[in-house]
Amino acid sequence: MSKVTVVGAGNVGATCANVLAFNEVADEVVMLDVKEGVSEGKAMDMMQTAQLLGFDTTLTGCTNDYAQTADSDVVVITSGIPRKPGMTREELIGVNAGIVKSVAENLLKYSPNAIIVVISNPMDTMTYLALKSLGLPKNRIIGMGGALDSSRFKYFLSQALGCNANEVEGMVIGGHGDTTMIPLTRFATYKGLPISNFLSAEKIEEVAKSTMVGGATLTGLLGTSAWYAPGAAGAFVVEAILHNQMKLVPCSVSLEGEYGETDICCGVPVILGKNGIEKIVELPLDEAEKAAFKASADAVRKVNGALKEVGAL
Ligand code: 2OP
Repeated sequence: MSKVTVVGAGNVGATCANVLAFNEVADEVVMLDVKEGVSEGKAMDMMQTAQLLGFDTTLTGCTNDYAQTADSDVVVITSGIPRKPGMTREELIGVNAGIVKSVAENLLKYSPNAIIVVISNPMDTMTYLALKSLGLPKNRIIGMGGALDSSRFKYFLSQALGCNANEVEGMVIGGHGDTTMIPLTRFATYKGLPISNFLSAEKIEEVAKSTMVGGATLTGLLGTSAWYAPGAAGAFVVEAILHNQMKLVPCSVSLEGEYGETDICCGVPVILGKNGIEKIVELPLDEAEKAAFKASADAVRKVNGALKEVGAL
């Protein structure tokens, strides 16, 4: 029996749980939220789609009752406030740090062996907070930002190429921030060929820019943070772990010398399998890409510094 807990039954958490159930990623999915009745109601609503959609996963909801989450294989943390138009992800740190820390501690009491997937923003800093405060091995703490940003990159590439997003390969590394993420345009391909064969340098630059502000564009349109792609990206990471898929996915992970960085969680390509992070993959970055990665890590480190200021570390 496999079990996944999703904490936070807001838009992102509920979407993540819904995708996990619809794709039958786990036998059991538990949603937990602080708002009385919300996760129970959403779980019941989703269970009433089981016959329509043809899935066998069992979904339940609970209000702050961590005992219900016991023995989860993977836990997903989406708790905290989402950003509003005009806000950066980094501005959420004061509120979200306290929430993420206490949620992670409570989860571990009941699921001491769980792998933790962090979605809450600012994502790299919340992943770092989980790493530092829980004392777990680094393979068990994973921030999902790169999976989301890479999916957005492939979407914008497919729009520019006029093709299906599944025919495009591309990765985004670095921090999950509007100015810190790095769409790796040099490595992106369409049908196995570099995209420079099909798109002008200007068009590629435009795709990279749209990717970087992908979340902010949606926040502007929706009045709050996006949820379909963030929730699905969380479920995608969980599936790679639970099903031991050994998929190469950019995620925010603890770096100990890889990419020239230490004491930080930042987005790099990793192999995801049953142990969480099975391997960090070092790409042969050129000088410009290395400089961009360093600047990105420096920006993430600056935000991490605020964890001490707000008393979270
Ligand atoms: C986003 O990029 C929520 O950070 C998330 O939409």
